[in-house]
Amino acid sequence: MPHLGTENAFSVIGKAKKFEQEVLKPQGKYLVYLQIGEPGFNTPANINEAAIKAIRDNQTHYTATPGIPQLRDAIAKSTGGYTGVDYKPEDVVVVAGGKPIMFYTINALIDEGDEVIVPNPSYPIYGSVTEYLGGKVVPIQLKEENDFNFSAKELEDKITAKTKLIIINTPQNPTGAVFPRELIENIARLAIKNDLWVLSDEIYNEMVHEGEHVSIASVKGMPERTVILNGCSKTFAMTGYRVGWGVTKNPEMAKYLEQLACNDISCVNTPAQYAALEALTGPQSAIEVKKMLNEYKERRDLMVSMVNEIPGMHCHKPKGAFYLMVNVRQILDRLKITAADLCERIMKEANVLILPGTVFGLFGDDFVRFSYVSTKEMIVEGLTRIKNFLATI
Ligand SMILES: Cc1ncc(COP(=O)(O)O)c(C=O)c1O
Repeated sequence: MPHLGTENAFSVIGKAKKFEQEVLKPQGKYLVYLQIGEPGFNTPANINEAAIKAIRDNQTHYTATPGIPQLRDAIAKSTGGYTGVDYKPEDVVVVAGGKPIMFYTINALIDEGDEVIVPNPSYPIYGSVTEYLGGKVVPIQLKEENDFNFSAKELEDKITAKTKLIIINTPQNPTGAVFPRELIENIARLAIKNDLWVLSDEIYNEMVHEGEHVSIASVKGMPERTVILNGCSKTFAMTGYRVGWGVTKNPEMAKYLEQLACNDISCVNTPAQYAALEALTGPQSAIEVKKMLNEYKERRDLMVSMVNEIPGMHCHKPKGAFYLMVNVRQILDRLKITAADLCERIMKEANVLILPGTVFGLFGDDFVRFSYVSTKEMIVEGLTRIKNFLATI
């Protein structure tokens, strides 16, 4: 257990809610939440109605472990649509949110001492699970000056005889980077040359503001050595439904994912599977997703321009997802504190919640992460509070 990490964003929110309730509320004050990693919209109504209808129709029993056939078929088609790969329902395993696919894929592949290459900063669970299973995390630094991308050479230098798996996530949490086609093709070339697996976390594939999302599975020779992780959480504002999936053209891996899911959860909540089916095949989804995306883009532009007006803070304009990595090195050096200390002070003294970059790994230590899912009013309120607070210290 000491090797297992966690997602600190969840513990931060627990602490913050307690602080708001016990300290701020009695004074008539409130926290502005600019750390949230989930869509700032309600789940579209047609999707909720599908879940309610499933309950009314008594779709409340176990399903086959890898999911109801209609949903697996819809996922195969939607994944095929953006990768160009002829995925079939048997290539799909439906699980409880995207996250379990990390646990299952790493579990299926990693033995004691195997190496997993993981960009850093990144979603913390990749490293946590790898170390828990006795693997070794080999980080590649995502540098701000490279728009949080990395080069083929940097990747090649990290590959050893023990490397088994590369984990990529584009659009990326927490940097908002969208990896260009050339980088994806280079990762694929090195994976094939060195006989490596790729876990491709595509949970933000619809959240692209500039450039294009390129799935590594679209490169010839990759579908058989790639597990795509995706799901309903971010695209359709369905985080609480807990529906995600793994997709792979490797039948042995698909079998392992199913077997792990069977040992773990038996199957995903049945009404939630019907809601996911509606999300993927229902008439309104595409319109709703586009509306949400347009709004995120406006919020991003507002947040980027306000952040860059705060002395000591700067950030680039992220191309995708809904996060902003803000460089605060100057402020940290001036105050001789860490990013975690700064976030704590901003919560307690400016009453705004943001996350330290170190939540996402060692190379996040110059940064704090904002998310731009909150309303424009809250973005303006939060950043005004931070600006005023920083001017006083
Ligand atoms: C990069 C990334 N992958 C996966 C997930 C988990 O998604 P889910 O809630 O569907 O498990 C998240 C959630 O924040 C994420 O940021």
